[in-house]
Amino acid sequence: MKSVSQFLSLTLLLTSLLMTSCNSKKETTEQKPVIEKAPYGQLPDGQTADLYTLQNASGMTAQITNYGGIIVSLTAPDKNGKFEDVTLGQDSLSAYVKNNPYFGALIGRYGNRIAKGKFTLDGKTYSLFINNMGNHLHGGKVGFDKVLWKATPIEGEEPALKLSYTAKDGEEGYPGNLSVEVTYTLQKDNALKIDYQATTDKPTVVNLTNHTYFNLTGGAKRDILDHVVTLNADKFIPVDKTLIPTGKLEPVANSPFDFTKPMVVGSRINDSTNTQIKYGGGYDHGWVLNGSGDSLKLAATVYEPTSGRVMEVRTTEPAIQFYTGNFLDGTVTGREGFPYKKRYALCLETEHYPDSPNQPSFPTTVLRPGQTYKTTTIYQFSTRKE
Ligand code: BGC
Repeated sequence: MKSVSQFLSLTLLLTSLLMTSCNSKKETTEQKPVIEKAPYGQLPDGQTADLYTLQNASGMTAQITNYGGIIVSLTAPDKNGKFEDVTLGQDSLSAYVKNNPYFGALIGRYGNRIAKGKFTLDGKTYSLFINNMGNHLHGGKVGFDKVLWKATPIEGEEPALKLSYTAKDGEEGYPGNLSVEVTYTLQKDNALKIDYQATTDKPTVVNLTNHTYFNLTGGAKRDILDHVVTLNADKFIPVDKTLIPTGKLEPVANSPFDFTKPMVVGSRINDSTNTQIKYGGGYDHGWVLNGSGDSLKLAATVYEPTSGRVMEVRTTEPAIQFYTGNFLDGTVTGREGFPYKKRYALCLETEHYPDSPNQPSFPTTVLRPGQTYKTTTIYQFSTRKE
């Protein structure tokens, strides 16, 4: 009898030990999705900004501040499961306020350039702030990247942060009160989804995007010239020397712009015999995405061979601006004072074509009262072993 009870208690002990070890094993691979809020600092006008940390069940994190809707960091696992930051960012709110070349930021009311800062809508001409080679860039002097957004955290299996901002009629020269909502969702499949929505009370133009600078080495260990990029685009948007579209679309075939098959970024980036490469100082152009309509489609794939990280970009937008950090020159330092040099990151900004308000043949960016602007972009991370 005694030996039976001894056997039973031994079995129970073993079972409970086994269960504990299974549970703790589970805890190390699966985490509870969370969204946490912490103070981030004070802006020059006295308002305070917060920093939200979203984490999904596999441990991927996104840190987002409601100042400019900036993605301050975004971690993704490498082929050995090591999570590292795959974006460029600065180490304090004051650094972002002082000088931010749009790292991680939400861009609006109009992403990219509007020629000479002028456009005509319904017979009325509007003048915008000129901030780039005689043109208007990324929404002007105080674009959506430099305003404080109202933040609403949304808890759940896929934590999300809803940001809202209303740009006033006449703000930065644009017509109409524009109510904007951007929701960042950290999905369980290691993807960051960005949903954009806007309505207006007067006819206006809108082109919203996010300007994250990616470097898939993790912690921006070196430049992005070894990254391998594929773009789902047979045509691109040639520009003049001030980076304003000429109005014509050009096939990418037989040019350094052909990323229809995976191409190492550095392989043709310095082809100075190509005028477009010369104007951009590398790649700084819009690619016209294959596939019609505003359904979600694969726009770009980026692969970084050392870490094995892969990023896929899907979007409902008709174009993607592929910018290779040509204007980074080491003057902006990142976390821990690390200087971000030329081509230390690449941007894949999903959007409508640059200067659409002045280009009748481009898909329209006009938004009228009663209409709702709605777009979605997803940046998804995985790994590949080769
Ligand atoms: C533009 C670049 C610009 C960069 C940073 C990109 O979207 O295409 O020309 O330098 O943003 O401002």
